[in-house]
Amino acid sequence: MKTKAVVFDAYGTLFDVNSAAEKCKDKIGSKWEAFSNFWRTTQLEYTWLRSLMRRHKNFWEITEDSLDKSMKVFNIDRSMKNELLSLYKILSPYPEVKGVLEDLKKKNFKLAILSNGTPDLLDELVASNKLNNLFDDLFSIEEVKVYKPDSRVYEIPLKKYNLQNNEITFLSANTWDVSGGGNFGYNSIWVNRNKSEFDILDYQPKNEISNLTQLLDKI
Ligand code: LAC
Repeated sequence: MKTKAVVFDAYGTLFDVNSAAEKCKDKIGSKWEAFSNFWRTTQLEYTWLRSLMRRHKNFWEITEDSLDKSMKVFNIDRSMKNELLSLYKILSPYPEVKGVLEDLKKKNFKLAILSNGTPDLLDELVASNKLNNLFDDLFSIEEVKVYKPDSRVYEIPLKKYNLQNNEITFLSANTWDVSGGGNFGYNSIWVNRNKSEFDILDYQPKNEISNLTQLLDKI
């Protein structure tokens, strides 16, 4: 029972990255989900590749670049681009998010997001979903200009809160991000929303939950 701060990944963990394409599924047709998954995978690949190449672009630029490629691959009408980008700024949270954050806040944990997203994107995402009064901090990798899972990213909340690594419980639905935080020394918990397989990256989370409501029993 030593958790002092609960830090959440944003995209895929609190907010549904497929919700932008899903809102356009009538126009995109049955390929909307494959297209959305490809967009997300390409977006993440670009974060890793740009960090390795040391050619940083912010997450919004990468989101647009990966959308451009994905629209070409899936032959999506170019006129949809602005709509998809606008919807990406206001992605929907998973249904349990607000209630769980409210319960954690009552228990006086520090609550934060640690995300690849830019500060502006995180502000808008949280405000558009009326979650802004629940977080103490929205930490962005823009502070260090390198993407997850670089350990400099996971240092950001640690320095701010002046805590030991294992006093931070870190939640992510992205297996590689759970490994990144876990290898850094966080108590990482995997939010396995889709009954997936975990990675083989030198870290096995002690706790796995299928949605955030189960978090309250784990900390
Ligand atoms: C984020 C991505 C990894 O929010 O989901 O940082």
